[in-house]
Amino acid sequence: MKKISAIILSVIMIFGLAACGGAGSADGGSKTLVVYFSWSGNTETAANYINNEVGGNLYKIEPQKAYPSDYEECRNRAKEEKENGERPKIKKPLDSIDKYDTVIICYPIWWETAPMIIGTFLESYDLNGVDIYPYSQSSSMDEKQFAASVEYIRSCASGADVHDGLFAKPNDTHTIETYLTDNGLIRTQ
Ligand SMILES: Cc1cc2nc3c(=O)[nH]c(=O)nc-3n(C[C@H](O)[C@H](O)[C@H](O)COP(=O)(O)O)c2cc1C
Repeated sequence: MKKISAIILSVIMIFGLAACGGAGSADGGSKTLVVYFSWSGNTETAANYINNEVGGNLYKIEPQKAYPSDYEECRNRAKEEKENGERPKIKKPLDSIDKYDTVIICYPIWWETAPMIIGTFLESYDLNGVDIYPYSQSSSMDEKQFAASVEYIRSCASGADVHDGLFAKPNDTHTIETYLTDNGLIRTQ
């Protein structure tokens, strides 16, 4: 009888531990955080695709003060933020990202670099030892602008290993998937 109780208890404990391990994947590693900012939805499409591929946790960066829905007004505000090196406040920021050792950060190109709110996000956490993979897309798909955005990310993510990243249109799923595979980001669940 004692033996049966012990077996039942062990089974309950194993299932209990598995249920608690929300941050862990079956291969023992931690999950990937897929963070994105998107104004008109293109980055959002790519971030959703990437998150499905990597089996990560998705977090959307939203500004405390919404960007205008008018394109010109939005461009003007973004221009001012860039020129002043602003760090726009984030609505409902994540308390901590300690449980992640890999972060894929997705954003559109704004004024030839990343939106300043990407800096707000990165500068909010201790990123020592974290692997960061930038993903972006834009209207012009100008590689120089993407390279500038990666440099900006490096300047905001002290202590992190910021990889060269991926610049691809959201519908170019072949390129996105190849990048994720080549960088070992598709984890077996
Ligand atoms: C404020 C603002 C600034 C932009 N600056 C650039 C730019 O410098 N170079 C470029 O190629 N596209 C630029 N674009 C276009 C966006 O990168 C493009 O529309 C992108 O697909 C938007 O992504 P989203 O739908 O995730 O917001 C800009 C768009 C906005 C709203």
